[in-house]
Amino acid sequence: MQKSIRVALIGATGKLGSKIVLKLLESSTISLEHAIVRPKSPLIGKPLSTFFPSCPLPLLFHANYEKMCRDSDVIIDVSHPDALSRYIPHVLRSEKALIIGATGYQSSTEKLVEEISTHIPILRAPNFSLGIPFLAKFMQICEEAFHKNAKVTIEEWHHKNKKDAPSGTALFLASKLKTSPELISHREDEIVGVHKICFESASEVIELTHKALSRDLYAEGAIKAIEFLHQKPKGLYQMADLLAIM
Ligand SMILES: NC(=O)c1ccc[n+]([C@@H]2O[C@H](COP(=O)([O-])OP(=O)(O)OC[C@H]3O[C@@H](n4cnc5c(N)ncnc54)[C@H](OP(=O)(O)O)[C@@H]3O)[C@@H](O)[C@H]2O)c1
Repeated sequence: MQKSIRVALIGATGKLGSKIVLKLLESSTISLEHAIVRPKSPLIGKPLSTFFPSCPLPLLFHANYEKMCRDSDVIIDVSHPDALSRYIPHVLRSEKALIIGATGYQSSTEKLVEEISTHIPILRAPNFSLGIPFLAKFMQICEEAFHKNAKVTIEEWHHKNKKDAPSGTALFLASKLKTSPELISHREDEIVGVHKICFESASEVIELTHKALSRDLYAEGAIKAIEFLHQKPKGLYQMADLLAIM
């Protein structure tokens, strides 16, 4: 069967990117057309099989954003905040759909992304888990119904190599509250991702926790996000739109 959605993946050899490559190889609807690595990466020009031994695709790693946009339908970025300013002019010019899964952006970049979404479809997903929109919904119900004066804390745990803190997910959750929560970050061992929201009043405590057990969760969500965004009109989307619950 012909795969109908052509994808370019920026950050293809990262911890998350490599999981997405493996899911794309299994997909019956999406084909991986471009595996983008950091400019000056020693992998540029090398076949994907040098990094993914079982990969049958005749693709070479590259970092050419113009070429990337030429024959892809959806661009997905799971690399580093630095990459965005380099590829965005090409993505805008070619009017491609863009999924931003990386985190750690300055607020000025977040504003720029909003502006750009008036021209192209963008899905901003600091967390590809479909459990996180539910967590946000429960959190909003708690805030509305529980003690209005409760102290709210968002605590998150990630692996020791995570570059940004607080996590993009903690910032996303905080943005969904009316009050400003205290944000606490922990970086330990190989933790994939844990987010805990705590509502504390003088007499009781409510805790809501989400635990990601493996990066496969994020890769599976990324595949759903690609299928969702393909052929959507311009605008800014989030993972909650896949569920249409918020
Ligand atoms: N949305 C989600 O569900 C989710 C889940 C987990 C992580 N994340 C986020 O996704 C990003 C990547 O996470 P990770 O754990 O996979 O990190 P990682 O293992 O460090 O992977 C990042 C990859 O991006 C590459 N890279 C760095 N700068 C680049 C550039 N300018 N252009 C193209 N590629 C570049 C790196 O290449 P080199 O190794 O050659 O530097 C590396 O292969 C982070 O922002 C993280 O917070 C999102």
